[in-house]
Amino acid sequence: MSIMDEFLLTDRVAIVTGASSGLGVAFARALSEAGASVVLGARRAERLRSVAAEIRAAGGRATEVPVDVSSPESCRALAAAAVAEHGRIDILVNNAGVGTAYPASRETPEQFRSVIDVNLNGSYWMAQACGVHMQPGSSIVNISSILGITTAGLPQAAYAASKAGLIGLTRDLASQWTGRKGIRVNAIAPGFFPSEMTDQYEPGYLESVRSRLLIPRMGRPAECAATLVWLVSPAAGYVTGQTIVVDGGVTIT
Ligand SMILES: NC(=O)c1ccc[n+]([C@@H]2O[C@H](COP(=O)([O-])OP(=O)(O)OC[C@H]3O[C@@H](n4cnc5c(N)ncnc54)[C@H](OP(=O)(O)O)[C@@H]3O)[C@@H](O)[C@H]2O)c1
Repeated sequence: MSIMDEFLLTDRVAIVTGASSGLGVAFARALSEAGASVVLGARRAERLRSVAAEIRAAGGRATEVPVDVSSPESCRALAAAAVAEHGRIDILVNNAGVGTAYPASRETPEQFRSVIDVNLNGSYWMAQACGVHMQPGSSIVNISSILGITTAGLPQAAYAASKAGLIGLTRDLASQWTGRKGIRVNAIAPGFFPSEMTDQYEPGYLESVRSRLLIPRMGRPAECAATLVWLVSPAAGYVTGQTIVVDGGVTIT
């Protein structure tokens, strides 16, 4: 057996939330290329259908299930649909997320709650919904952010709090479930990657953070997806409760 076999996800079933755009699409493609059947969740059904069709056209197995992760019922329905279609859930990627930037002096309770509801609460509802179905050897990855660890010049209390919360959620679920249920739980904290979310930055913003990038460019989605494939595969079988930073060095400058 070669070391490369440790990275294979043959016969694994993976749910990826937020798979209608951005990093979620790259994650779904990469998991499929590594051998997993993928179940794609997000709100925009039409976008999900075309991502699933593209993965199937490339020879993978993909189904789409519309979900709003801020609703625990919707999360349970996604998990049940994955089990009904594939009989099991081995991998959950909590990638669905929204980003806002409001000064703290003006941010309304509704604006703050709407971000926490998706990024933090939604990840917990999905973990609960999938955890009951997962067998030993399964794995959950929460997509946090460098904003959970450092600042980056924008007023992002809700986003930063949600992403720091995900790092705590990761540690706690790992301590509850890795020993008792054999489910590894980790997080990835990406830096700057092209997506619909980062397309919304004001002109000049990315240039303003460039001096903190030791690798002076945005990340390629495949560079984050490769970390994900490693984390959910047997190659990372001794890794749990960790947050892996993929950021071109921003968080150490
Ligand atoms: N790109 C970066 O540089 C970067 C850096 C750090 C962290 N991240 C994190 O990476 C993840 C993906 O972001 P992205 O950059 O790829 O942005 P994106 O293209 O805007 O993708 C966000 C995804 O989340 C989904 N989503 C939003 N609200 C949802 C809800 N209530 N229920 C279900 N799905 C929902 C969106 O789909 P629908 O609109 O169809 O629901 C979309 O597929 C996010 O968690 C983000 O915080 C990204």
